[in-house]
Amino acid sequence: MNSDTLQTPYFYIRETGLDTDAAILKEALSKNWGPNHLVGYSVKTNSLPWLLQYMKGQGFFAEIVSDTEYRLVKKLGFDNAHMIYNGPIKEKEIFNSILLDGGYINIDSTEEPIWLEELSAAYPQRNFSVGVRVNCDIAALCPEEVLVEEEGGRFGYCYENGRLEEVISRINRLPNVKVAGLHLHSSTQSRTVSVYAALASMAVRIAEEYNLELSYVDMGGGYFGGREDKPDYRDYFYAICKELRRKFDPTRTTLIAEPGVSLISRATTFVTSVKDVKEIRNHSFLITDGSRTNLNPLVTRHVYPHHMVYVDEPEKRPVIKSQWVTGFTCMEYDRLFEIKDGPAMKPGDKVVYDTAGGYTMCLNPLFIHYFPPVYVEHRDGTLFKTRDQWDVDEFMQKNYIEERDFHE
Ligand SMILES: Cc1ncc(COP(=O)(O)O)c(C=O)c1O
Repeated sequence: MNSDTLQTPYFYIRETGLDTDAAILKEALSKNWGPNHLVGYSVKTNSLPWLLQYMKGQGFFAEIVSDTEYRLVKKLGFDNAHMIYNGPIKEKEIFNSILLDGGYINIDSTEEPIWLEELSAAYPQRNFSVGVRVNCDIAALCPEEVLVEEEGGRFGYCYENGRLEEVISRINRLPNVKVAGLHLHSSTQSRTVSVYAALASMAVRIAEEYNLELSYVDMGGGYFGGREDKPDYRDYFYAICKELRRKFDPTRTTLIAEPGVSLISRATTFVTSVKDVKEIRNHSFLITDGSRTNLNPLVTRHVYPHHMVYVDEPEKRPVIKSQWVTGFTCMEYDRLFEIKDGPAMKPGDKVVYDTAGGYTMCLNPLFIHYFPPVYVEHRDGTLFKTRDQWDVDEFMQKNYIEERDFHE
């Protein structure tokens, strides 16, 4: 298989790119905290089975947030002890079995403390450890930080209004359940290093205020990675560990990271081709076989890092003032970016989107076209198709036209 002849559109993962960020992460954790750390790869970010297997090979745990993700990672060989179960809605059966098997759980809801009370009573001779997800006022801690939502985060138990203290006291009343961890994942748009330092100092403050002896601090995900113009794990964990060391002993408290997009951005591209060039009044539209639905299903992105691969010499082409790269869908909003004063694009030219791996491959809507294929370039340069193009058969599976076709 040769990458020049692959039919677009497709995602392309370079294994050496993944290796680079996994190594930077491990080194940043070891250097700043020592060996007592663990990584839970955020499964939702990209749950491609090959990628999950890769993360398992790196020794990473699976950070999951649903029963579906639980069954997926189970199928791929992760055991309960190597899972971190997060999220606002959990399944009681999975919750119990992960706790009984010594996996990590960060509670986040009204019902989980009740499940803990039941578990504590059902297994009086066993001891259980849980983490508690913290919700704190990031806007007050870091006024410059650009939040994802103006009114602040909705996950975890609120520090400022006393809900966090309440849930900790409630768990402390159970003889065999310990608040062993704090979970501080907080998504912000600006992902600055200083917000992580502030979150780490919150962990110190909460542990002191509520007299907690923590066996872990989970800093969550949300880091930049694989981008030359942004901070990376080395910057984040230097700042985090500096704060945490004020209170926690790295030999007794495990530092947990739950990276997603930062681990896979560098390695992944989405390759598309120009299929048509249309002149409409004074505008030039390039119709490509990729779409905003492939790259930005959440419609949150404003920039699409990319590069071009031209079918012939672009220097010999006329320069066009404005060309709009658009997608294959029939939606007007499916416009990706404008090329200003660039060489006239032609059918066959490729638009290759860089850093395209997070929240895309699996978050692709099944809209007009189905999931594009995914290729992996192995370390030795060989190519492997890890996901085939989804077609009508995949789309029609588990669909029944008539009642009598349905078999439970
Ligand atoms: C609890 C938790 N951990 C980790 C992540 C991974 O975040 P990212 O992909 O931004 O690193 C997320 C993403 O929302 C999350 O909710």
